[in-house]
Amino acid sequence: MLANKRILLIISGGIAAYKSLDLIRRLKERGASVTPVMTKAAEQFVTPLSVSALAGDKLYRDLFDLTDEAEMGHIQLSRSADLILVAPCTADLMARMAQGRADDLASTLLLATDTPVMVAPAMNVRMWDHAATQRNLETLRGDGIVFVGPNDGDMACGEFGPGRMAEPLEIVAAVEAHFAGGPLQGRHVLMTSGPTHEPIDPVRYIANRSSGAQGAAIAKALVALGAKVTFVSGPASVPMPQGVQLVPVQTAQEMLAAVEAALPADAAVFTAAVADWRVEGASDRKLKKSKDGLPTLAFAENPDILKTVSHLTSDRPSLVVGFAAETDDVIDNAVAKRTRKGCDWIVANDVSPETGIMGGSENAVHLITDDGVDTWPRMSKDDVARQLAVKLAEALA
Ligand code: C5P
Repeated sequence: MLANKRILLIISGGIAAYKSLDLIRRLKERGASVTPVMTKAAEQFVTPLSVSALAGDKLYRDLFDLTDEAEMGHIQLSRSADLILVAPCTADLMARMAQGRADDLASTLLLATDTPVMVAPAMNVRMWDHAATQRNLETLRGDGIVFVGPNDGDMACGEFGPGRMAEPLEIVAAVEAHFAGGPLQGRHVLMTSGPTHEPIDPVRYIANRSSGAQGAAIAKALVALGAKVTFVSGPASVPMPQGVQLVPVQTAQEMLAAVEAALPADAAVFTAAVADWRVEGASDRKLKKSKDGLPTLAFAENPDILKTVSHLTSDRPSLVVGFAAETDDVIDNAVAKRTRKGCDWIVANDVSPETGIMGGSENAVHLITDDGVDTWPRMSKDDVARQLAVKLAEALA
C-alpha cells in the first residue's frame, strides 16, 4: 500500500503518455497522492484536463508561471514529494537529465530535487538501443536513479524490441517495492559472473566467450528487490551493474578466494563461466619462440566454486544456484549436474549455436529444483533475471 505517500509524476511527451492516466488511478487506489507535471510535448498526447482531473490535484506545466511560483516555488515542488516518478520518460528527457539541463519545468525539478527518482523510459527501439541513450542510462544509473522497464514488445511505431513503457501495474509494483524496501531488504546474495582468464605468461591467457550479460542482469534484478549483492566478476564485456559490491578478479583461484571472503550469504548465484583448467606453473616471463620446438603447457584442474560452496558444512548459503550451459540433452545433463554439484537449483539453458543464446539478448531456461523441472518460455535475459530474482526472494522469505 502507498497510504500517505506523495508522488510527483512527471509525464513527458511520448505515445505511452496515455498509460499515465491509468498509472495515476492505480497509484491513487493504493492511497498515494499524485501531483502531476507535464512537459509541453506531453500535452500533445494527453490533455492537461484529464491528467489533473484523475490526479485530483493541480497540474504544473510551466517554469515561469507567476501564480505557481507564488503558491509553491519549483524548488519546493521538487522536494515536497516522497518520490519523483517520470513516466513515460522520453529519450530527450533522459538526455537532458543526464546532462543536468534545466530548460523546462520537468528538467528543472529533476535537477533541483533531493528526492529519490524513478524513471519508466518509453521510446522507439532504435532510440533505446542507440549508444547515446545507453550512455545516458549508465550516467543516470550512476546518479542513483532507479529504472523500471522498458519492456520488449510490439511498439506503437510498428517495430518490435525494447522500448515499450513498463505497464502501469509493473510501475506501481516498483514504487511499492521502493517504499517497502523490497523483499530482499537485509539479505546478502553472493554472485559470480563473467569468464575467467587463466594466464599462460604475463601477456597471454586462456579465456572463454562468456559476456557476463546474464549475471549482470540477475545482479540488477536482485538489487532492485533490495538485496545487498556481492558481485565477484571475471573480465566481462558488458558494463558492471550499479549498486553492487564489485570484486573484480581474473582467475578461478582468485574467484574462489573472493567468494570465500564474502561469506556468509543468504543465497549464492554462480553464473560465471569458470575455466576448468589453468596452466600449471604459468611463466612469469613472456614465452619466446625457440628453435627447440613448441612450448608444452601443463594443465592443472581449477577449483569448482559451485561444488565447494554447495558442500560447505558451515556458512553454506541456504540457497545455492548453479547454471548449466549445455548443447545436448539439456535437462538430463542439468538434473545430473545438480546432484553432482550438490546445489539447490540449476538454471539450465541450451547454448547450441542455432539458439543464438550465447552472446545474444534472449534466453530460454529450465529451472531445476527439488520439485522437478520448470520450463520457462524464451524471453529477454532481463526478464529471466527478474523472474529468477522473484523466485529467489520467495524461497528466502
Ligand atoms: O561443470 P560446469 O562448468 O558445467 O558447471 C556450471 C556451473 O558451475 C555454473 O554455475 C558455474 O558458475 C559453476 N562452476 C564453478 N566453478 C567451476 C566450474 C563451474 O563455480 N570451476
